[in-house]
Amino acid sequence: MTISIKLPDGTYGDPDDIGSNPTSNESFSTIVERRLSRRDALKGFAATAAITALSGTGVSHLAMREALAQTGGSTLTFTEVAQGVDDKHHVSPGYKANIVIRWGDKVTADAPAFNINNLVAADQDKQFGYNCDFIGYFPLPAGSANSDNGVLAINHEYTSAELMWSGLTAKNKNDKATKELTDYELSAHGMSFVEVRKEGGDWKTVDGSRYNRRISTARTPMEVTGVAAGHNRMKTSGDATGKMVIGTLNNCAGGKTPWGTVITAEENFNLYFGGNGTTLPEADNYKRYGVSQNSAYSWWKFHDRFNVEKEPNEPNRFGWLVEIDPYDPASMPKKRTALGRAKHEGAAIVVAPDGRVVVYSGDDEAGDYIYKFITTGRYDANNRAANMTLLDSGTLYVAKFDEKTVNWLPLVFGQGPLTPANKFESQADVAIETRRAADLVGATKMDRPEDIDVNPVNGVVYVALTNNTGRKAEQVDAVNPRGPNPYGHIIELIPPGEGGRRDHTAMTHGWDILLLAGNPKNPDHKARYNANLSDNGWLAAPDNIAIDPKGRVWISSDQGSAWKNTNIADGVWGTDVTGAGRALTKRIFRVPIGAEMCGPEFTPDGKTLFVAVQHPGADGVNEDQNFDNPATRWPDFQAGMPPRPSVVAITKDDGGDIGA
Ligand code: FEO
Ligand code: CA
Ligand code: CA
Ligand code: CA
Repeated sequence: MTISIKLPDGTYGDPDDIGSNPTSNESFSTIVERRLSRRDALKGFAATAAITALSGTGVSHLAMREALAQTGGSTLTFTEVAQGVDDKHHVSPGYKANIVIRWGDKVTADAPAFNINNLVAADQDKQFGYNCDFIGYFPLPAGSANSDNGVLAINHEYTSAELMWSGLTAKNKNDKATKELTDYELSAHGMSFVEVRKEGGDWKTVDGSRYNRRISTARTPMEVTGVAAGHNRMKTSGDATGKMVIGTLNNCAGGKTPWGTVITAEENFNLYFGGNGTTLPEADNYKRYGVSQNSAYSWWKFHDRFNVEKEPNEPNRFGWLVEIDPYDPASMPKKRTALGRAKHEGAAIVVAPDGRVVVYSGDDEAGDYIYKFITTGRYDANNRAANMTLLDSGTLYVAKFDEKTVNWLPLVFGQGPLTPANKFESQADVAIETRRAADLVGATKMDRPEDIDVNPVNGVVYVALTNNTGRKAEQVDAVNPRGPNPYGHIIELIPPGEGGRRDHTAMTHGWDILLLAGNPKNPDHKARYNANLSDNGWLAAPDNIAIDPKGRVWISSDQGSAWKNTNIADGVWGTDVTGAGRALTKRIFRVPIGAEMCGPEFTPDGKTLFVAVQHPGADGVNEDQNFDNPATRWPDFQAGMPPRPSVVAITKDDGGDIGA
């Protein structure tokens, strides 16, 4: 998500870039640069290492040298898409990108046809929502590895009203909003579940499938589970139990559990609340999460639950990780409060060798933290029902980095500073005010933690830190060239052990840096990649991550309006993480102007890569472009039809592996 709203200083920009973290905990970037100065010694070792890695595989040295020379040492053999920006999407030669579903397309069997000139909330409740982000592929039947038929679980993170209705602009849309418009926006948020099938090489939605479902902020009931369920701070006039919430908000990325459920992450929930919260009992809590400070929407003017003066506890009911069963469309989504409340970007779920389940999650704001949760119970491959409550009991930890290790600090009521002396009366308080608890234990302030994924091949955890433009030069030491850090970087958390047997429950991990993004040809960027990087291989603002069956990492980017500075559109890049191709990113896809790239997701066979093109035409084009005069009409290119956020399936023409 890159949203532009009026900021406290009167300018317009992305509120994620402005930290609300009041602590003086050591900045991670300081540590990063100390580490990287040691890595310099490794430059230039690439080709030699590749030959060494492949020796003994039966391939002749000469053949290896020729193959590696062509790919720069990478196992990825595709021809890159050129950098640049225009009104279309671009995919590598030999690949195709087919549109699977667009905003307004039919989801449920009774959905009416999309009418761009008459947007009705009740219709949107049955149609594909706006600004698609996370994509999870769930094979059919459940438990199979079918890569030609499955259910896509797709987040609808937010809405861009100026591209949905005629006559609005990014700056006047809040003032001009009507109740009818906000009703529609609530329905355009949430999720879609759609069955898809590969037919003749193209992916299509399955009309009338029993799995097709819309979840909206307007009307889908969700159960609150775990430590905060039923707590007084969770109760509202509409829900005296504190256990039932209508809807989910700003669902950004997510994750999949080994038992076949989706975790959807509530990120910038604060943007939807208005009213004056400064004198209310929750004022400090609001401040730490940015609630009722800069509403990006007008919902609170028409819907009392988004006005903190009328419903002071409603913001406490968002900011959670929500678990949903895509195989049971009648099931009720569960807000898993034991995992903590934050601007959760996503979640990465992995089973540790002893059977306990570990969930990693980042809190995407400048200077906020990385968390992990370890369940009390153990995963049972033969008891799905028992797995369905695993995420309600366990211990939440936050990451503190030093030069060589990551240490996981428990956020447990009664331990350390998390006591009544600091206004924590129970674990429910720790869950509701997770950020303040993490401040008190001294967690490491990060450069906006976005997606996290666990690589099933090497067991390493990949974390995208998208950027931190707000970090001042004086917050880094003399040798740190990345303060501010406009281009972001990707780190690896390395639990003890090997491959799939790494112990994710360990309290101490190693860590490393995969790359520092930016343009390596521009010394001001101080970017670092593999020395064999091509001119099309560099990226900026890494956001989402997907890992293919061969353990290669694929990165999607979200620069917001900063693409005007880099002059490259967002997209997807893949890279090896071991051997000669480590940190040798290669671009396979490019979004149309003003879009960000979200949701990379592979089918189990690695032959399809689904991606979400979010807010085409929205970011940074010019202040006046809107529904009436969009910068692109992707993907329809029809007069009168604005750009539409859409899910795209990338496949190889010969049916082979993505990236080969
Ligand atoms: Fe919704 Fe952090 O991007
Ligand atoms: Ca994101
Ligand atoms: Ca982002
Ligand atoms: Ca991911």
